Amino acid sequence: MDRSSAPELLDIAVEVARNAADTAYRMRAEGVSVTATKSTVTDVVTAADRAVERQISDALRRLRPDDAMLGEEYGAAQPGSDAPARVRWIVDPIDGTVNYLYGLPHSAVSIAAEVDGEVVAGVVRNIHTGEEWTATLGGGAWRDGRRLRCSAETDLGQTLVITGFGYDPARRAHQARVVAELIPHVRDIRRLGAAAIDLCLVAEGRADAYYEKGLAAWDQAAGALVAAEAGLRVGGLGGRAPGPDMVIAAPPAIFAPLHDRLVDLDADGGP
Ligand code: IPD
Repeated sequence: MDRSSAPELLDIAVEVARNAADTAYRMRAEGVSVTATKSTVTDVVTAADRAVERQISDALRRLRPDDAMLGEEYGAAQPGSDAPARVRWIVDPIDGTVNYLYGLPHSAVSIAAEVDGEVVAGVVRNIHTGEEWTATLGGGAWRDGRRLRCSAETDLGQTLVITGFGYDPARRAHQARVVAELIPHVRDIRRLGAAAIDLCLVAEGRADAYYEKGLAAWDQAAGALVAAEAGLRVGGLGGRAPGPDMVIAAPPAIFAPLHDRLVDLDADGGP
């Protein structure tokens, strides 16, 4: 098999994610404390975030020395060799760090593999429950041997929407205003606190749609592939690719009405 084929990369991602999730689970049981803060005082880093990312990068360096990596805690790492890397791993050691800090069972290890700039494989593993979602480009989205299909909802008014908020207070205030204007037009809103899992729940139809402004690549790379492979339309606003300005994942019939509402509400505006 091609050493950079999506199934090969997924196998590695799954093995590494399982070991990483075990470490995160064990460290949670031993007690969690805040080690540092990042963008704001509420944007915390725990010792586990750093230890788990180190474990993942060490494992990937051992298994795939010629690949590059981008991680939430330590940023970009270039390959061991001088040749430009075709494969880049995008890693969130603990997505949902605030949930992890409080012991809320909604945080995950997220690992995606990009080949030539395109995400081709991804795994999201819930640290607390062991739920594990995987996808390969063109190969479908899966959990526990079951192929995932998103909701077939066609009415925005019946749509259960998950979203999230950034850490910056001014951004949050803007995001809260958007939610306040959106909620009368949808079934309800959920804020669960881990974008990677949120996207996988939508992939399973355990909610209908998801949107958020301000996500980093590591928050959404694996989850967005799982969502897209489950049949959701994943995109940004105005035909742009999903990215920091906006990620929308919605059933095909819901994407346009949700997108247009978000445009009207200036959801990608503000700080
Ligand atoms: C955060 C979570 C949260 C989302 C934030 C992310 P972190 O990631 O995914 O659900 O709303 O935008 O920053 O900080 O827990 O890795």
